[in-house]
Amino acid sequence: MGQGRGFGKVILFNEHFVVYGIPSIVSAISDYTNAEVTLLKRDNDKDFIIIDDRPETPGYKLKKQDQQNKSIELMMNLVKIKLGAHTLQVRFSGKLLAASGVGASAASCAAFARALNNEFDLGMDNTTINNLAYEGEKAYHGTPSGVDNTAATYGGLIQFTKGEIPKFEHIKIPKAVEIVMGNTGLVTNTKVAVDGVKERREKNPEKYDLIFEHAKALIPKARSAFESGDYKTIGKLMLENHKLLQEVEVTCKELDHLVNVAQDNGAWGAKMTGSGFGGYMIALTPGTELQATIAEAIEREGFKVLKTTIGV
Ligand code: MEV
Repeated sequence: MGQGRGFGKVILFNEHFVVYGIPSIVSAISDYTNAEVTLLKRDNDKDFIIIDDRPETPGYKLKKQDQQNKSIELMMNLVKIKLGAHTLQVRFSGKLLAASGVGASAASCAAFARALNNEFDLGMDNTTINNLAYEGEKAYHGTPSGVDNTAATYGGLIQFTKGEIPKFEHIKIPKAVEIVMGNTGLVTNTKVAVDGVKERREKNPEKYDLIFEHAKALIPKARSAFESGDYKTIGKLMLENHKLLQEVEVTCKELDHLVNVAQDNGAWGAKMTGSGFGGYMIALTPGTELQATIAEAIEREGFKVLKTTIGV
């Protein structure tokens, strides 16, 4: 049996804008997905079967089933594994919730890539694992920027820019910082969200160019604030980033509400994270006390939370 792990992620700055070559900042979170692959004696024409034991936001796994099958198929085709008289059993597990906004698809792709590497002795380094995970992500996103699979593969806090050869660097911060992630419970489709921004941008290029410039300008400020542990500034920049995401129309009333709840209860900053239209929002809550206060405030509104840290 071959095994592998892929981290969940939270996009701290510039989801969507990253698709257009604007730099972004992403962090892995400590929750991860585990993949196990086992060769079974083939007794039908299926190349693989999937057992999905991940915890989930209700409805997520069913909604993503076709994309998940396609993703496994794309990745197996790329590495040209010869199964012969075998069927591959793929089992996903681990604490990371199968949900929108936490990089669940990328985590499972990176985990599966590592499990294949392990089972078939493919000798892949992290760059090749990341490229393979990117291939799997295409089934979920169409043309992903690569930010999610990069965080899922490498972990840590990363500044990422899309490109033929993506550019990314780890950002060092003085110490890990607490965050709360609020789950709207809504399952979203990344491709639909990304396509929507593209359409609206084509209709209104001048407006979108200005928004993209603003988004780009946030990154050097956010990076130096991270490096010096200036969470006040990071929080302010996150709120600015959320406004830009509102302007490109990818938030929803639940996300905006939870961002307001976090702010009203003393979070240093908050924003939606991921593709939008549901999934998760994130609140910056340095210290376990503030983290607990914000988590309780979100739970009081009837939403589930994930308490974790970024920057490790
Ligand atoms: C989704 O987690 C992030 C998006 O920016 C899409 C992408 O980067 O491919 C919305």
